[in-house]
Amino acid sequence: MIAPATREVLLQVEDLTLRFGGVVALSDVAFEVRRGEMFAVIGPNGAGKSSLFNCLTGLFRPAAGSIRLAGQQLVGRTPHAIAGLGVARTFQNLGLFDSMNVIDNLMVGRHLRMQGGVLAGASWFGLRGSERAARLRCHEIVDLLDLHEIRYTEAGQLPYGLRKRVELGKALALDPALLLLDEPVAGMNPEETEHLIGYVHAIQEELDLTIILIEHDMHLVMDVADRVMAIDFGQVIGMGLPEEVQRNPRVVEAYLGVGPTAAAPGPPGTSPVPDAPLAAGAPPVATTEIRP
Ligand SMILES: Nc1ncnc2c1ncn2[C@@H]1O[C@H](COP(=O)(O)OP(=O)(O)O)[C@@H](O)[C@H]1O
Ligand SMILES: [Mg+2]
Repeated sequence: MIAPATREVLLQVEDLTLRFGGVVALSDVAFEVRRGEMFAVIGPNGAGKSSLFNCLTGLFRPAAGSIRLAGQQLVGRTPHAIAGLGVARTFQNLGLFDSMNVIDNLMVGRHLRMQGGVLAGASWFGLRGSERAARLRCHEIVDLLDLHEIRYTEAGQLPYGLRKRVELGKALALDPALLLLDEPVAGMNPEETEHLIGYVHAIQEELDLTIILIEHDMHLVMDVADRVMAIDFGQVIGMGLPEEVQRNPRVVEAYLGVGPTAAAPGPPGTSPVPDAPLAAGAPPVATTEIRP
């Protein structure tokens, strides 16, 4: 694989600002991600990490700034249009349909890619053909992630670690150029974490993916990321190679006092979003990803 530093810029974010009433969730955030890179975003709870993904995928409209994917402006486009351009994501809390089996969950991910939705102007035979191709691709992804034994099992029946892997598959079903992973290993034990990270590495290589990984645990990021951006209270406080960011005094300070036993208060008017995943078997939060 060619070293990411020599490849072209895929994503360029400039001066991104997002407000919720008086709360500034993102303030002048700027960064670039090159093709093939594993780019990590770290920061304490409530820093603005998930909000950044919501801007990149069109769920939130920033107050200011620019997001370009291979030169195309994403700000102002619908989530569906952005998905069609090849941006896929997983959610911090599971975004699966419990009563649907694994393959059908992947098909939902795939349909986000189909031009104008499944029913738009396709002839019956054309529709059947594209459905068949989509289903074939979903079975390939199931094989890639070693999910073949449970492909017809309802997602709601699966243990938490497997559900996270299925959600990865659902994002891959879009055949993305850019894959956004929001705390993919939250709630996993070290063994499950290592297992899932192994799959992430394998698919990145196999599919030549560019990945942005949100992760709360700095130690994990040090092992997997090519470059790291640290944010706190919506502002970039450090960017560079993992070891540079780890040594950055502002990053060290942001992480002091925000460990699991000492919740740091946010600035007035903020309410940090808890990063704890839902317990296995709890109903997933409603996802907004299939809105037109
Ligand atoms: N839909 C929303 N409405 C209002 N405030 C929000 C919303 N989503 C996030 N926020 C606020 O934006 C800030 C950043 O939150 P978030 O992006 O979820 O942080 P992180 O993912 O880094 O934990 C927090 O202060 C949070 O309360
Ligand atoms: Mg978050």
